[in-house]
Amino acid sequence: MRERRLLLIIGGGIAAYKCLELIRRARERGFSVRTVMTKAAQAFVTPLSVSAISNERVLTELFDVDEEREIGHIRLSREADLIVVAPATADLMAKMAGGHADDLATAVLLATDKPVLIAPAMNPRMWQHAATQRNAATLEADGIHFIGPNAGEMAERNEAGPGRMAEPHEILAAIERLWGDEIANHIGATQPLAGRHVLITAGPTHEPIDPVRYIANRSSGKQGYALAAAARALGARVTLISGPTGLPIPHGVFVSHVESAREMLATVEAALPADVGIFTAAVADWRVADASNQKIKKDAKHATPTLSLVENPDILKTVGQAKAGRRPPLVVGFAAETDNVLENAKKKRKSKGADWIVANDVSPATGIMGGDRNAVHIVSAEGVESWPDMDKGDVARQLMDRVAAWLAENTGEA
Ligand code: CTP
Repeated sequence: MRERRLLLIIGGGIAAYKCLELIRRARERGFSVRTVMTKAAQAFVTPLSVSAISNERVLTELFDVDEEREIGHIRLSREADLIVVAPATADLMAKMAGGHADDLATAVLLATDKPVLIAPAMNPRMWQHAATQRNAATLEADGIHFIGPNAGEMAERNEAGPGRMAEPHEILAAIERLWGDEIANHIGATQPLAGRHVLITAGPTHEPIDPVRYIANRSSGKQGYALAAAARALGARVTLISGPTGLPIPHGVFVSHVESAREMLATVEAALPADVGIFTAAVADWRVADASNQKIKKDAKHATPTLSLVENPDILKTVGQAKAGRRPPLVVGFAAETDNVLENAKKKRKSKGADWIVANDVSPATGIMGGDRNAVHIVSAEGVESWPDMDKGDVARQLMDRVAAWLAENTGEA
């Protein structure tokens, strides 16, 4: 197995000294550790001690002419499997959330498409400040992973609360966890979807009644987002076309946010061609025929409104029945049913021109709609395969493995 490569970014906080132990422990576990230090970090530990313990040269400045020529921020990110920021100070988090890139550390963070884990460390008041909490939420939505901060005594006297950096062994455990989840399966040669374009629809659609009201459904989007993450983990270029969900965007996935079925269809058409199209969105079947441009008022002069509905375009069917060349070689639909699950799924597969239908029972008692688990049946021309109840992430990974195998068997090299 090849070496596991960490890029450690040390921020300027008193907890920076703990990074020496983190590096030592990580190297013991077989990681190579390359380090970038911010200017402020160098006030707390010296590049010399970091370089001695990591056995690598420590990088500090973005505009050091020699270093930029030898090893730029793009290469630094490319040559790492995982980036760890410790301590992640309030200032560094703000810069990351704002997309700043005025030194080597922030430039690497903006340029990377690798998983990033941060270990925040700051005074509890700074951690609890609305600005830091806002930045933390932004980073989480951007797909950044967090470890800590822990609660406890701070370096400053009489200050307690969350803000203490996670201990080196905790950071290392988080690294190992990420390795298992995101990285281990696809470092080295196992990127079976590299060079493939995977298009996924997800979430509900919102169909306007007037500027403040809409028709929607209970879809959470979780299964579609999990598929996007799984496809990306196998090396695919992923376009996720999502109705309103509020879910964090999986790292490295390109997302287009849409509201209505018609917007979703137009965005899907613009994103083609693709090697596979996976349609998990719970598209509203109908929209309001004459949505009002003004808020509909509830007063004595107006009668209770009646909504008249017209059918929305069927996105899966439009793509499933598209002509060869435009139609992805593999088209996968989902069928959310409450009765006669398999019978309906088989009918949908034919009527919509899909190759596979992933069918599930969404009766309220199953808790699948909006929940974290799913029990699916894969309906194809070959028959029906029923999978046991599992986490939506596992459904996603197994389905993407199957997609990768199908593409390898039925289409040429990517
Ligand atoms: N679908 C779509 N566009 C629509 C309706 C559905 O792309 N306007 C896709 C869904 O993303 C899913 C599949 O079609 O992959 C089946 O959706 P479902 O709602 O179960 O089927 P419907 O066609 O709406 O049939 P019904 O509601 O009558 O069961």
